[in-house]
Amino acid sequence: MKIVVTGGLGYIGSHVVVELQNEGFEVVIIDDLSNSSESVLDGIFSITGKRPLFEKIDLRERSRVKSFFKTHNDLKGVIHFAASKAVGESVAKPLHYYENNLHTLNYLLQEMEKMEAAKFIFSSSCTVYGQADELPITEVAPIKPAESPYGNTKQIGEEIIADTCRVSTNFHAIALRYFNPIGAHESVLIGELPIGIPQNLVPFITQTGIGLRDQLSVFGNDYPTEDGTCVRDYIHVLDLAKAHVAALKRLLQGNNTESFEVFNIGTGKGSSVLEVIKAFEEVSEMKLNYAIAERREGDVVAAYADTEKANRVLGWKAELSLKDALKSAWKWEKKVRS
Ligand code: UD1
Repeated sequence: MKIVVTGGLGYIGSHVVVELQNEGFEVVIIDDLSNSSESVLDGIFSITGKRPLFEKIDLRERSRVKSFFKTHNDLKGVIHFAASKAVGESVAKPLHYYENNLHTLNYLLQEMEKMEAAKFIFSSSCTVYGQADELPITEVAPIKPAESPYGNTKQIGEEIIADTCRVSTNFHAIALRYFNPIGAHESVLIGELPIGIPQNLVPFITQTGIGLRDQLSVFGNDYPTEDGTCVRDYIHVLDLAKAHVAALKRLLQGNNTESFEVFNIGTGKGSSVLEVIKAFEEVSEMKLNYAIAERREGDVVAAYADTEKANRVLGWKAELSLKDALKSAWKWEKKVRS
């Protein structure tokens, strides 16, 4: 069964490609290499022994999207990761984000609407909940006004898909709302490769550990949480990758009960910034240089998933711990810098 993974050379996409290949799917990757490298194909090949087809396409080039779907007329599904994801950059360049994340989605869906049976997995985010009123967060929690153009593209993206599902009987989709993906493949042949200064906590921690950054700033310790630092649900990227395969199989087997379904993908466990630092210090057997700093604008206090729906309906559950994930992130950092 042939599946397209857009953004398949990126951090999450590449782990999903490996998982799909391990499950016997034939994978075609579309990627524009704007935030990834072709060498990721070698990593995937070394892990699975199979080299996925790769087409360098910028999805904004509509004619190329059209011809791609004409060539690959035996496609069974699309898993869509290709998008820009830097929150700060999205505030500075909103039109770029709306074009790159939403025009492209529209072009893909227009081609998929022509397919006999189109199955679509969308990479969404817990950012759609903003600061949720109740924890853990369920899928029926209200969607809050987006904090950034990036967050808005995830909300609007889901709406575009829901509207398409309403009118296209042959089009079925699942949006996975990820919490905080971290870690790397246990082989350390693929992992996260942030460009420039990392915005996310775990790559900043590992880069500080390796000496690339002097000090980690902990953004605020006066939040209304147990130790005053923000709480998040950190999920191992391998568990996250498996959730995509479970969601795809659900659509391919026609087990979905609605044409558009949404699932939270997290561990269900919240960890504070200080807890993550402590866990990192334990797995790396070193002291991390960190200092308390001002709060970061736009940060929510606490977010962690209610995973009951995903566990029950997808038959999927996160199995790896925070320490497992940090261990793999640290091993990856050491390998990348060696
Ligand atoms: C990130 C994304 C958000 C996305 C969400 C879920 C950013 C800015 N936000 O948010 O759009 O929807 O993941 O995938 O990228 N922290 C520090 N020091 C640092 C970096 C982070 O203390 O140098 C803290 C933050 O304040 C936060 C926690 O660590 O409390 C996690 O931060 P981060 O990795 O950026 O994730 P989110 O804020 O959850």
